[in-house]
Amino acid sequence: MGSILDAIRAIPRQAREGLQLGRRVRIRSDIQHVIFAGMGGSGIPGDLMQALMRESRTPVTVNKDYKLPAFAGQNTLAVVISYSGDTEETLAAYRDAITSRCTVLAITSGGKLAELCQSDKTPLIIVPGGLVPRQALGYFLFALLGCFTQSGLLAITDDTLEQAIMALENTELGRKAEELFQQFKGKVPLIYTSQALAGLGLRWKQALNENGKIPAYTGTFTELCHNEVEGSASPLMKGFHAVFIRDERDHPGVQKRMAAVKAILKEKSVTVTEIMLRGDHLLIKLCSAIQLGDYIAYFLARDAGIDPLDTPVIRQIKERVRKP
Ligand code: F6R
Repeated sequence: MGSILDAIRAIPRQAREGLQLGRRVRIRSDIQHVIFAGMGGSGIPGDLMQALMRESRTPVTVNKDYKLPAFAGQNTLAVVISYSGDTEETLAAYRDAITSRCTVLAITSGGKLAELCQSDKTPLIIVPGGLVPRQALGYFLFALLGCFTQSGLLAITDDTLEQAIMALENTELGRKAEELFQQFKGKVPLIYTSQALAGLGLRWKQALNENGKIPAYTGTFTELCHNEVEGSASPLMKGFHAVFIRDERDHPGVQKRMAAVKAILKEKSVTVTEIMLRGDHLLIKLCSAIQLGDYIAYFLARDAGIDPLDTPVIRQIKERVRKP
């Protein structure tokens, strides 16, 4: 399976392959909404696509449940992703999508999902196996980008796609993460982003949880200004480290609120890291920040002497639920 570091470094290569895989699939042009169904590392590509499609006219729902929302129907594209192909919730969502007569596209490395798609003749993208699902993101995200751009569901130029892959390759991110991770040590990270970048915050959380093996939580602006900030006076806050992931394109109101919350947290002696996204396109910013978060989680695991790859608790829960 290799190391997590190999897996982080492999993401740009996956992205190139993923683009080619995705470009082989064309979606009908009369789709009215898109639902992404998948859990954990197979769910995050949907969250990121939702961020990228925020400006598009096609509504996007990310579904992390056994059932799809009731509006799913003939004009819905349901993208069902499961790396193993055996995730219970995702298989149920796939069956629901078929029953609801959605147009379905599945992405997997095999398992039951591949079997079902073959017998139902559902369009299927098979990605290489042998990885941990969260580190197959290069395949998932870029297969979706290849498919959606050529199907007219999303407008991103080839040049931007190439620059995004180059951002994934940027070895500077590893060096930056090696400096930054010290600030995370011994604390519970609170990852704060705008609502538009919630998917990025979630990817950081997942990397810190699954690879770093620490609790981590996300919050979004401006919602957190209406509730979460009231907790800032609590002595419990000493255990947290706030991470603000900022974009110069954040709404001016979001920017002002981030500055206000940062000042309040600092007054309460909560440590704060600020990350400013870099790049000419949201996709480039996302790719670069995803790698940074993955590297930080890796350095935390290395520092704690923990194996970032194995996820025994996730496995244990799956086994317990499988038992009748
Ligand atoms: C484990 C991981 C998990 C899985 C999730 C769903 O490495 O990343 O978040 O992605 O348990 O499993 P799959 O991806 O096989 O559908």
